[in-house]
Amino acid sequence: GKYRVVSTKSMPGTRWIRLLTDQDCRVEICTDKKTILSVEDILALIGDKCDGVIGQLTEDWGEVLFSALRRAGGKAFSNMAVGYNNVDVSAANKYGIAVGNTPGVLTETTAELAASLSLAASRRIVEADQFMRAGLYDGWLPHLFVGNLLKGQTVGVIGAGRIGSAYARMMIEGFKMNLIYYDLYQATRLEKFVTGKSSLAFHFMTTSHIPSFQLLGLSSYYFLTAYGQFLKANGEQPVTWKRAATMEDVLREADVISLHPVLDKTTYHLINKERLAIMKKEAILVNASRGPVIDEAALVEHLKQNPMFRVGLDVFEEEPFMKPGLADQKNAVVVPHIASASKGSDMSNPSPLVSYGDPQHTSFQSLLQQNSSHQHTNFAYQDSQ
Ligand code: GLV
Ligand code: GLV
Repeated sequence: GKYRVVSTKSMPGTRWIRLLTDQDCRVEICTDKKTILSVEDILALIGDKCDGVIGQLTEDWGEVLFSALRRAGGKAFSNMAVGYNNVDVSAANKYGIAVGNTPGVLTETTAELAASLSLAASRRIVEADQFMRAGLYDGWLPHLFVGNLLKGQTVGVIGAGRIGSAYARMMIEGFKMNLIYYDLYQATRLEKFVTGKSSLAFHFMTTSHIPSFQLLGLSSYYFLTAYGQFLKANGEQPVTWKRAATMEDVLREADVISLHPVLDKTTYHLINKERLAIMKKEAILVNASRGPVIDEAALVEHLKQNPMFRVGLDVFEEEPFMKPGLADQKNAVVVPHIASASKGSDMSNPSPLVSYGDPQHTSFQSLLQQNSSHQHTNFAYQDSQ
């Protein structure tokens, strides 16, 4: 192999390795048993010559690592995650290193986990499971683990991008929920939406006011509105849908609220004490995006004060830790950041190295060759096994 490519972790499947080796890359996979590598560990991996790195969301990819990668002759970095809040893209640009992430391959998988958490929280599955295992079940009773019925209730989606939209579709189609959503970004995008027998393509003519977002090719879709119109016109689903004017409207009106924003400065502690306070007392809050989107200490307090309020969390503010008190709350379902962890992370995306932006950037190898600075190309990595 002409190019030395380092992967800081072993990743599922083997197809990504084959793809790279087919493209004249020698792939080295770090075997360090440590769960999370430090900047120093990664500096050692990069060494004197390294053309590209595939890294993880737990790693701090900023000035130090990108400058070291540049010194080692590196040209590309890919984050094995759709979220890239651990990556300082401007530092990468400064050193002429192209950055990739993995949108598209885990959309349905992550939405399904958010749906699972919604159901687990509303029907108190984990509490009931613990009750069974503790040997506490001594016969059926009418009031045992009474939960919430989703049908006819309102699902609120905050962040109506790929994942938020897929989640909304599941809750609307699967549970006949009404929808209210708040989109944090606006963008121009063509999206194909498949529902049952109908395959629809929608054009959205809004413009992005967040240039970096557009540049990154991670623009959110606007198809929920069109989908709602479609359902109405066809009388297919007895649901209502609406785009909220403010996020507060979603928080006030929804019975189940799922968070799907990117994490950046504008979404840090998006759900804080004040916003929790305006949610329904028996609402369900789900987060499979990034932990710091919720002020977790405020959430713990809210859970204590409102025993009927329930939460389903895949992510935490300071992973791998939970804020004190959270683990004691029966009204919380908690799982260890597993939303993207399914064997079939989106089979509908058959190619493991896909560029969503510039069609010329179809592979890690082309990124390595062209020394392209100021590019952020998305490529998927996951092997569908
Ligand atoms: C996982 O958290 C991801 O961002 O892909
Ligand atoms: C409950 O088990 C019922 O039969 O209603």
